[in-house]
Amino acid sequence: MYLLTGSLLLSRLATSRTSWLPCRHLPSVISCANATRYLSMQPITTPLTQAATFLVLRVLDKPDAVDKVRAALARTSDLSKNVAVRDQTAAFACTVGIGSDAWDRLTRAAPRPKELHPFVEMRGAKHTAPSTPGDVLLHIRAERRDLCFEFERQMMDALDGAVDVIDDTTGFRYFDGRDLLGFVDGTANPVGSDASNSVFVEADDGDPAATGGSYVVVQKYLHDMRAWRTLPTERQESIVGRQKLDNVELDDAAEPEQKSHKTLASVEGHDILRDNMPFGSPGTDTFGTYFIGYSRKLWVTERMLERMFVGDPTGKHDRILDYSRPVTGSTFFVPSADMLESLGD
Ligand code: HEM
Repeated sequence: MYLLTGSLLLSRLATSRTSWLPCRHLPSVISCANATRYLSMQPITTPLTQAATFLVLRVLDKPDAVDKVRAALARTSDLSKNVAVRDQTAAFACTVGIGSDAWDRLTRAAPRPKELHPFVEMRGAKHTAPSTPGDVLLHIRAERRDLCFEFERQMMDALDGAVDVIDDTTGFRYFDGRDLLGFVDGTANPVGSDASNSVFVEADDGDPAATGGSYVVVQKYLHDMRAWRTLPTERQESIVGRQKLDNVELDDAAEPEQKSHKTLASVEGHDILRDNMPFGSPGTDTFGTYFIGYSRKLWVTERMLERMFVGDPTGKHDRILDYSRPVTGSTFFVPSADMLESLGD
């Protein structure tokens, strides 16, 4: 194998768009003064799929629970292979995140990623993003819903009663990647090497315990579709910052006018990678967006939330929130695949 610099190899391989790729196929080179170490990353940068499951778990307070969860999470790569091989065109991938409160227990006090802390409630004058618990996040994706289901089944068997399910949300792709508000969601996501640069912590970030991993924030939003539908399309477009039909970006508002979602959710010079999915059930009047954002620096996502909820200038919050209410909010760290596998040792 050629020796490349960390970021170069990372970007060449981590953004590989080759279906489900087991985690081990995503190496990063971490160069130290005297040694070069190979790290595998979890498959975060795989493309948006037709189906996704977002599973947030709490580790039970039972004597054998931590050992069972460690053993089960260490098998993620093996279980992924079990499922993915049954349809190699289905782009199956699963990433695992560990919450701040569970980090010491689940990793047996491995050094902590520098920015890892519980989701901080974000309170604006009108809307609040609540902080809700979560020890483990499973982000399961595939072109086929049945593969997501099957992986979740095998993982829950492996977890063997050691966890409570805090939230289990099944998302689906809606037409050409639209959210249920009717807009194409994900357009401004970084692609190629920019995606891995935005997502994976690198050796020179001064966050050694986090190298090869990523911070991830999830929030489950419920939409008030009745109220949203009363708005003329032009008003919806100015709230989002893009045209609805053809997805063309609108100009930013002049200061200090009300900014659109796409402007408030931007932090100059920093990207995050979003894999949002619609979820819901018209029969129970449930319409939602599951927000999931991976980032190399957690403060970037937190800053976006602050701009959305508090507003910029303060008080001019993101108007998307007048029609979308977050009911969960949790932060996790997605360790390297090597570290995840080592939980079984
Ligand atoms: C109800 C929840 C949300 C919905 C329906 C939603 C929908 C959208 C849509 C339609 C766009 C424009 C197209 C695109 O570039 O993807 C967008 C952009 C974006 N959203 Fe959201 N979003 C939600 C929540 C969030 C949250 C909580 C964050 C961050 C904490 C966020 C971060 C972003 C970013 C970074 C962009 C791209 C901005 C740019 O153009 O540079 N979104 N979102």
